[in-house]
Amino acid sequence: MTRSIKPLVAGNWKMNGLKADLAIAAEVARGYDAALKPAVDLAICPPASLLFTATAALIGSRIATGGQDCSTQGSGAFTGEISAAMLADAGASFCIVGHSERRTLHGETNATVKAKAEAAQKALLVPIVCVGETRVEREAGKALAVVKKQLRGSVPDGATAATLIVAYEPVWAIGTGLTPTAADVAEMHEAIRAELSRLLGKQTAAGVRLLYGGSVKPSNAAELMNVANVDGALVGGASLKAEEFLAIARACAI
Ligand code: PGA
Repeated sequence: MTRSIKPLVAGNWKMNGLKADLAIAAEVARGYDAALKPAVDLAICPPASLLFTATAALIGSRIATGGQDCSTQGSGAFTGEISAAMLADAGASFCIVGHSERRTLHGETNATVKAKAEAAQKALLVPIVCVGETRVEREAGKALAVVKKQLRGSVPDGATAATLIVAYEPVWAIGTGLTPTAADVAEMHEAIRAELSRLLGKQTAAGVRLLYGGSVKPSNAAELMNVANVDGALVGGASLKAEEFLAIARACAI
C-alpha cells in the first residue's frame, strides 16, 4: 500500500451479469459499511447493458461504477461500439481500457489503448489502464521491459493522479488461480511507479493508484495488498461473489 493513497477495489464483471445479478451489487452495497467506507473505495464494472441500472441501484452506497472498454471515437457510424460519453451518461466514473482480453482477443495496440484512455478522460471518466506480461515474456526475463513499453505507449500525456489509474495484470495470472510472488509484484509496481515518474513527473506519479489484478481472492488479498506501491485490486472472478469481493475490500482497508 501507499500510505497517502486511498485504495480502490474495482470489480470487473467481464461478460457476466443479467438483471438478476444486480443482487450481487446490492449485497456488496449492504456490506460496504461505515468502517470500510473511509478506508477503501469500491467500484463495480458491470457489462454495459447493466451500467445504468447498476449505477441507479448503487446510489447512496458510495460505490462507483465503470465501463469495461470504450471507443476511441466520440460518436458516429461505429456499429457496436460504445463511447466514453455514453458510459458517463449511464453513470460510470471509471473505464477499464487495454485489458489483456481486449489486447489479445481484439488486437488492441498500445496506441489504441492510449486513444481509449484519452477518450475516457475527455468524458471525465478515470481510465484504468491495464498492462501486464505473458507467461512467455516473464519466463524470458522480459516482464519489466514489456510493461514499461506498454506504459510508454498507453498512458495519456499529461495525465494526473486524479485522471489515471494503472492496473498491473500479468496475463498468466488472470483467471488461472496463479499469482506472482509478493516480491515480483513489489518489483513490478516499483518499476511502474518509476516509469510513470519519467512520463508524468515524480509528484504526479507518486499519487497515481496502482492496482494489482489477476486471481485476487480473499485468501491472497492481504498479502498482495501489503506490497509496497499496491494501491488496490482489479478483481475478476471473485467480484461476482459479493462475500468474496467484500473480503478483498476488507483486506485492502488496512
Ligand atoms: P481474475 O480477473 O480476478 O478473474 O483473475 C482479473 C481481471 O481480468 O481483471
